[in-house]
Amino acid sequence: MKVRYSEGMEKQAKLTAIANDIIEQNICPELAESATQLVMGDGNANADIVFIGEAPGKNEDEQGLPFVGASGKFLDEMLAQAGLQRSDIYITNIVKYRPPNNRDPKPEEKQAFWPFLARQLEVIDPKVIVTLGRHSMEFFLPSAKIGQVHGHAVRKKVIVHDGSEKEWLIMPLYHPAAALYNGSMRQTLVDDFLGVKQLLAAN
Ligand code: URA
Repeated sequence: MKVRYSEGMEKQAKLTAIANDIIEQNICPELAESATQLVMGDGNANADIVFIGEAPGKNEDEQGLPFVGASGKFLDEMLAQAGLQRSDIYITNIVKYRPPNNRDPKPEEKQAFWPFLARQLEVIDPKVIVTLGRHSMEFFLPSAKIGQVHGHAVRKKVIVHDGSEKEWLIMPLYHPAAALYNGSMRQTLVDDFLGVKQLLAAN
């Protein structure tokens, strides 16, 4: 499928068009049925940095916004320590509907949403992509182990939705939910997060 964007279409309008396509193409109908709404993403469509989580949880499903629950609060604290706020970044998830009872997204669900995530990234075209947890990391660094690569940025060529290639700087981090109640992982995530700011300054 080749998607062509009309000249001059603003980034936010293009992101809205992608959300409409997910609904019109009835992506993951069972998830769509059990979820309250699509949680597409939030923040600045012109951001230099995009954060990608796993899937919406209960609060996100209710509010229609990503990372508004406990992990979102932790993320906001780390952003603030790095001198960033939500309006400086764009944030989304690989899977855009809440999986029932917060179960892990299934491989076929992640696969179904990947072309739409790739289109979001193409539109925003950030300098840095931060993956939060292994579910979003695996699209960019398929054979990596998060315990080994967290906090280390790498440049990766990625095949996007129309078969073309894009090169992005990928920074894999632990998922804030995993680090929330684990003291040592929490500190690791806080430390890794400082590298995000340095990465932005250097690129
Ligand atoms: N965890 C995620 O991965 N995404 C959210 O939006 C909220 C919690």
